[in-house]
Amino acid sequence: MRSAEGGSGHSLWGGRFDEGLSGEMEALNRSLDVDWRLWRHDIRGSRAWARGLARAGILSEAEASDIDRGLTEVGALLEEQPGPAAFADEDIHTLVERLLTERIGPAGGKLHSGRSRNDQVATDFRLWGKEAIDGLCGQLAVLVEALAARARECAGVVMPGYTHLQQAQPVPVGHWLLSRAWPLVRDIEQLRFVYRECDVLPLGSGAIAGCPFAIDRTQLAADLGFSGVSENSMDAVSDRDWAARLIFCAAMAGVHLSQLAEDLVLFSTTEFGFVRLGDGFTTGSSLMPQKRNPDVAELTRGKSGRLVGNLTAMLTVLKGLPTGYNRDLQEDKEAVFDSVDTLRLVVPAITGAVHAMAVVRPRIREALRAEMLATDLADHLVRRGVPFRESHHIAGALVRMAEESGRELSALTLAEMRSVHPGFGEDVYRIFDPAVSVESRAVRGGTSARAVQTQLDALARALSSASGTA
Ligand code: ARG
Repeated sequence: MRSAEGGSGHSLWGGRFDEGLSGEMEALNRSLDVDWRLWRHDIRGSRAWARGLARAGILSEAEASDIDRGLTEVGALLEEQPGPAAFADEDIHTLVERLLTERIGPAGGKLHSGRSRNDQVATDFRLWGKEAIDGLCGQLAVLVEALAARARECAGVVMPGYTHLQQAQPVPVGHWLLSRAWPLVRDIEQLRFVYRECDVLPLGSGAIAGCPFAIDRTQLAADLGFSGVSENSMDAVSDRDWAARLIFCAAMAGVHLSQLAEDLVLFSTTEFGFVRLGDGFTTGSSLMPQKRNPDVAELTRGKSGRLVGNLTAMLTVLKGLPTGYNRDLQEDKEAVFDSVDTLRLVVPAITGAVHAMAVVRPRIREALRAEMLATDLADHLVRRGVPFRESHHIAGALVRMAEESGRELSALTLAEMRSVHPGFGEDVYRIFDPAVSVESRAVRGGTSARAVQTQLDALARALSSASGTA
């Protein structure tokens, strides 16, 4: 029999073949090294399926309870294993069924009635996916909270805000940190949507045409904790949209983390020196004793590459698949697992780095240039009735005057300012305080202390409502 020759010791489909799989094909065919991590989900799905078959009258109560007991034993055995290396089986489904049949005999062979590995793997994968999404949302929420905690602490420290990486306008450090938290809140919201998409039961779809036995799929869904049941068996066995969207969310989160990481790399340089990363997140050089390398941030930035790569891999696998189930779909899991594993590694590390970093206030203060208040200078005239187009031009001329005379903008005399436009008031010098500039932006979403507090409250609400949605 084919299964005896295949080297895997057991396969689920040998009946119509004379020869076993070639060694090369076996190597290509095998997915156990990847889908090993689904063994708990496979057992859970199989137990529910056996109960469903019993309810449908396909298994006797005795057979169903043998299967249940056998699967418990298989679970205990697999729990002891360090990994799949000891098993030559094709995939996790084949392995579990073989171990079950070895334990309980012929009744084990009845478990697969009306089921295909196509609906089985789709179910296992979704059971795993829901847990993975919960885990990622939890980790991202911890990072958002870390950013918010640091933001609260540094709300009053004013730093240069950048556009084009040129000093633009002053902003509170807290505002910068929160600008890196909001994208992650959106990632959590999107992941919650993917969770709902994933929360639909494919089991009962068979290979493509549904199950011929009177399985109560609603009951099956309830048993397995799914909120819904798929409506089209052909779609159900080939649908990996939730997985692609999960990979997209992971890639998007990876991009957000990479941007935060880039800020930390830049701001921890000698030239900026705005932050000092904690010792626990910094590495030294084997050659240069003075080095404090921001590896935590560089690795975060670097890991985003594979997250984007996985998305490309997944969409490319899906593109061009003909109707029904296709074996290409076996490639889905490696990409999803890798994206989830990567974030599981990166998010706690960058969270730790955010907690441990010191904000170096004197360096930040030193970096603030009065030129950053040129917009406030223009706004001073706007408040006094000058059209902004004109006041922008006037402030530009004053910046130039200061630059040419080698002084800071705030060092210009009132007479010099009035020589460009008579509208300047004596109180103009008040604008040359970055804290005043920050306070003047009191609109919602702005930089004033109250606006930032409102923002912090909104963030906490958004986070708890995103985390609360199942
Ligand atoms: N091992 C496969 C997977 O990981 C499931 C097997 C489906 N195989 C098949 N020939 N229909 O997706």
